[in-house]
Amino acid sequence: MVVRGSMRSAGKLLSRAAARSRAVGSRTLSTAAPEAPPLTRVYGGLKDQDRIFTNLYGEQDWRIKAAEKRGDWYMTKEIMWQGPDWIVNEMKASGLRGRGGAGFPSGLKWSFMPKNTDGRPSFLVVNADESEPGTCKDREIMRKDPHKLVEGCLLAGYAMRARAAYIYIRGEYFNEAVVLDEAIHEAYLAGKLGANACGSGYDFDIYLHRGAGAYICGEETALIESLEGRQGKPRMKPPFPANVGVFGCPTTVTNVETIAVAPTILRRGGAWFAGFGRKNNAGTKLFAISGHVNSPKVVEEEMSIPLKDLLERHCGGVRGGWDQLQAVIPGGSSVPVLDINDCKDVLMDFDDLKSRGSGLGTAAVTVMDKSVDMIAAIRRLAHFYKHESCGQCTPCREGTNWLEQLLVRMESGEADKREIPMLEEITRQIEGHTICALGDAAAWPVQGLIRRFQHVVEDRIDNADTFDPAQYFQHAWSGQPFTNADWTKAHGDGKTYLAGTAK
Ligand SMILES: Cc1cc2nc3c(=O)[nH]c(=O)nc-3n(C[C@H](O)[C@H](O)[C@H](O)COP(=O)(O)O)c2cc1C
Ligand code: SF4
Repeated sequence: MVVRGSMRSAGKLLSRAAARSRAVGSRTLSTAAPEAPPLTRVYGGLKDQDRIFTNLYGEQDWRIKAAEKRGDWYMTKEIMWQGPDWIVNEMKASGLRGRGGAGFPSGLKWSFMPKNTDGRPSFLVVNADESEPGTCKDREIMRKDPHKLVEGCLLAGYAMRARAAYIYIRGEYFNEAVVLDEAIHEAYLAGKLGANACGSGYDFDIYLHRGAGAYICGEETALIESLEGRQGKPRMKPPFPANVGVFGCPTTVTNVETIAVAPTILRRGGAWFAGFGRKNNAGTKLFAISGHVNSPKVVEEEMSIPLKDLLERHCGGVRGGWDQLQAVIPGGSSVPVLDINDCKDVLMDFDDLKSRGSGLGTAAVTVMDKSVDMIAAIRRLAHFYKHESCGQCTPCREGTNWLEQLLVRMESGEADKREIPMLEEITRQIEGHTICALGDAAAWPVQGLIRRFQHVVEDRIDNADTFDPAQYFQHAWSGQPFTNADWTKAHGDGKTYLAGTAK
């Protein structure tokens, strides 16, 4: 690794830039109160000047010229000249926790990469698999603001002393892959990637790799297997990827959003980012809100914003009014569901959602009003996890099937009430007993159903004779007629309930 230029002058330039950014663009640090105890201030209401993703809705061009006008690629070389350790320390100071689901502190994770090479190159792998149901935030970054990710790869890769980045994008994201590929190409043409990237003296490449559409390939070791050309089946850990990752080399696998926010954090300073959200839950965050709200969307907000504010401020509230709310899955399909009591005051951050028995996960918020059959909703998720299990571990391979079978019986009311604790017991036998967290992801929604909606299951069993599945039929979202005659014959036209096709 060769780093040219004067570190001291780069440092001065950078602190001038950070000061200017704070003066014109950001909330002052004196009002940020990162150490403020919980509930002493209301979080949320992120101002435009504090948004990292300023082209989230594609109102401007995504190409490099427009991206530069928005501030991307500004002083990238000078940031690099601060050195890898400075970048890692700044990321630690920002308090950023990984946006891929588990929320592991990012700066700490980057610091696990070897500082001295044993002859093997190091790699950054960006996880753009985004297959968790309800989750669609990384897609918006890649198709509307791809240069944030491309620049982030260079800076994060440099901080990890990586030779190159591999971006693993889910197969279904064809258009996103086209845009991202073009953005990478533009960066090469502008001298920002490749040999002497950005004139920094550092050589760095980015490769885009398209997956084939399997949820399990989002799990970091399955992703690595897939990238190497094998079936996407998770590996046992240890060894961890930072020691033995892709092609047997030190690797960090990290989420698109985690990488895409890094350049702005480094330009504006870790303390700026740490000023948002509650302690240990720092930053701004993309929330992807879908389901029964008046205006579903992906929005950047301050961490720790109350869920109710998030829905009312940005999504026009719950369809039919707050009182129509039945349940919310707050963090992608794998976290336990919340009921209306939780929802009225829960904060959207790692710790508060955990204290309610759920989690922030991918911050994909699925809102369900009273028209939803909660048993059917969770049964549908159980089907997803059964389908996506790679089959290596017996508890996951067999258990996900049992979960679905029992939920099918509960949905129709055929089950016996004694099967409810049996269902719970199966989830406990899966959770924590598998190679990867897909087993946990399958278990938690079912546990959430039992924890918050056991009365619905019991009521269904008690009143199986009068249960009418047609009353819960969810109309096709578009409202447009399906034109495929074979499909409508088998599955209905999306407007009327067809008995037997709901599963
Ligand atoms: C079944 C499964 C699927 C996953 N899918 C994704 C995904 O699509 N995108 C992602 O970033 N992380 C996904 N993860 C988490 C990754 O394994 C990994 O923790 C994450 O990419 C780390 O990034 P971060 O440190 O930026 O959060 C998945 C995990 C599991 C168990
Ligand atoms: S938990 Fe499931 S998906 Fe993960 S390795 Fe085991 S069988 Fe495969």
